[in-house]
Amino acid sequence: MADAEVIAIANQKGGVGKTTATICLGRSAVRDYGARVLVVDMDPQGNTTGSLIRTPIPAGQVRLADAITPDTDVTLREVIVPSIWDGLDVAPGGHTLSVAERKVIAAEYGREHRLREAIAPVLGDYDLILIDNPPTLGLMLINSLVAARKTMLVTEADKWSADGLALLGKTIVNVRNYHNPHLEILGAVVNGWRGTASDKRNADEISQGMAKHFPGVPLWMEYRIPLWTGIKDNIDNGVALDQAKEAKIRVLAADVIRPLAGLMLGRTTV
Ligand SMILES: Nc1ncnc2c1ncn2[C@@H]1O[C@H](COP(=O)(O)OP(=O)(O)O)[C@@H](O)[C@H]1O
Ligand SMILES: [Mg+2]
Repeated sequence: MADAEVIAIANQKGGVGKTTATICLGRSAVRDYGARVLVVDMDPQGNTTGSLIRTPIPAGQVRLADAITPDTDVTLREVIVPSIWDGLDVAPGGHTLSVAERKVIAAEYGREHRLREAIAPVLGDYDLILIDNPPTLGLMLINSLVAARKTMLVTEADKWSADGLALLGKTIVNVRNYHNPHLEILGAVVNGWRGTASDKRNADEISQGMAKHFPGVPLWMEYRIPLWTGIKDNIDNGVALDQAKEAKIRVLAADVIRPLAGLMLGRTTV
């Protein structure tokens, strides 16, 4: 069995849709492509975990943080739990990641490689490992970019996003130079699209910024995700977009999310 594709979902800005994209793309990879998927929640806020698991993780149960903390013998396999959807597992994030981060920073060696090492033993268990990230450019994001083979950016079409992506680009270049020379940027997903004149202007600016900072990396305007409360409501209620009551949300799952998941998996057809 080939090793899993490992993809980090990134943007240091909060609220742009990383978690939403991670959940929707992971679901589509399972449902539309039959992939075995692991979602790794690197965010101390743990929103991804909260949305994807049926019952809260009991206090005291090991989580992702324990598997990346130096000098523990907790393995990633021990912390993985099933999600609300068959075929999709979760390595639960949450606030203990903040403590773990401080311990990783204090470690003498291998700070940037904790997640890569934790993931290595389970690469054969999955087709796709999606890493959701915190809204910072800190060591946890660097760990994700070192662990990943590819990164997918998620952005809104707002005024500051072009600058934000340029900053993220610097982090990616540093990760390539020092730790992970083959890290590839798959492309950028536009989320929260309203189709206003300012959205279009900002998308043009992002696209120009990307051409400058990430030549050849696509901004997928054809697969943009609209700003619809139905997206939030379904995810918050644990309903997959492909099973939403609203027909337009199911169409979005089929026409936008599914091709994006195919791009991630390197597959265009089921
Ligand atoms: N396309 C969308 N339409 C409506 N609400 C959205 C959309 N994308 C994200 N949201 C909501 O916006 C908030 C932030 O999104 P989230 O995915 O958590 O962003 P991030 O992980 O980048 O911080 C969440 O409440 C989410 O449900
Ligand atoms: Mg998030």
